[in-house]
Amino acid sequence: MILVTGGAGFIGSNFVLEWLAQSDEPVVNVDKLTYAGNLNNLASLRDDTRHVFVHADICDSDKMQELLSTYKPTAIVHFAAESHVDRSIHGPAEFVRTNINGTFSLLEAARTYWAQLATADKEKFRFLHVSTDEVYGTLGPDDAPFSEATAYAPNSPYSASKAASDHLVRSYHHTYGLPTLTTNCSNNYGPYHFPEKLIPLIIANALAGKSLPIYGDGQQIRDWLYVGDHCTAIRRVLQAGKPGETYNIGGWNEKANLDVVHTLCDMLDALKPNATGVSYRNQITYVADRPGHDRRYAIDARKIERELGWKPAETFDSGIMKTLQWYLDNQEWVEDVQSGAYLKWLEKNYKQRDTATDTQAI
Ligand code: NAD
Ligand code: DAU
Repeated sequence: MILVTGGAGFIGSNFVLEWLAQSDEPVVNVDKLTYAGNLNNLASLRDDTRHVFVHADICDSDKMQELLSTYKPTAIVHFAAESHVDRSIHGPAEFVRTNINGTFSLLEAARTYWAQLATADKEKFRFLHVSTDEVYGTLGPDDAPFSEATAYAPNSPYSASKAASDHLVRSYHHTYGLPTLTTNCSNNYGPYHFPEKLIPLIIANALAGKSLPIYGDGQQIRDWLYVGDHCTAIRRVLQAGKPGETYNIGGWNEKANLDVVHTLCDMLDALKPNATGVSYRNQITYVADRPGHDRRYAIDARKIERELGWKPAETFDSGIMKTLQWYLDNQEWVEDVQSGAYLKWLEKNYKQRDTATDTQAI
């Protein structure tokens, strides 16, 4: 089996669902269930014994050690993190704790576990660290996209904490020989994306008749990748990536924020027109910029294509259509997240339990 951290979050839950749709290799899913963790994302696995959910904090190194010796995974896929840049500006401490200290305690547990494996299992084991393109900082309009050789220059507490975790992972390969893999991916979008991030926030606010906040002039550029493509890339790196290497993952889809918001408004005008007949574009509001806002991200994804044969399957047009349709079909998911109702599951399930928190399926 494999051990996934952060598998109740946006990308992690997409990854777990896809993993189990494509293979019978069980998953131990370790998640602290912060505000961003939502077990409703995994509701379809409720009776699936291939999914073992463990409510735990990656900073708890004893617990991580115990889980590794109990479940004996062949790989760790590490998604768990604080992931929202704006939250890192308001409260960086949690980002340092989870992203740096948490990755450290997981690496330590992995090192101890890996050291006592039999030689053949040692060779097969992988620690895959899921990271971000934000560690490279920001690009000017004519700069080449970020490659694996681009120097790190993180600009927010979030990206600095991810950069630190990438360095720790690198050092565990070079110093201890731990078979690590690091992926640095661009902006994801798709189902189960928490509506604090641009695309799901715009969809939710548009439908609720609220304003659509554009930071600064809206000309910041992001390189969008459909989440399913990120999941297939991770699976491919896990299968065939070379230990100690890093792989940049991107969609070759650079778009200015304002263009993304215009696209969403136009699609909503066609699919779910406003009762008043006025375009959703009228809800756009310019607000104060994000401090230290990176102007442009773009990924050079040629290495993963050349060496591992991975390419995104979705274009932005196909991915954004799937995404919008998912949100229109899953309004209840959005309402549960916005009302906090999904957190009640945690209370209901765990408050009365006084023993172990490992649950076979969920
Ligand atoms: P998310 O915020 O949606 O989910 C994070 C998950 O981690 C949640 O389920 C949360 O409960 C869990 N978690 C947080 N702290 C924890 C802790 N201390 N112990 C155990 N679990 C904890 O994040 P996401 O957008 O799914 O991102 C997943 C990973 O991918 C992150 O490492 C992020 O840096 C990286 N990434 C994200 C994007 C993106 O566009 N969202 C792009 C590139 C890389
Ligand atoms: O590049 C990968 C990163 O993408 C991941 O590492 C992060 O975890 C993920 O959150 C994402 O970071 P961004 O800051 O790029 O994503 P966000 O959706 O927060 O913002 C996208 C762009 O939209 C960014 O330029 C800020 C802008 N924005 C965002 C919000 C929430 C707005 O203009 N208005 C908004 O209300």
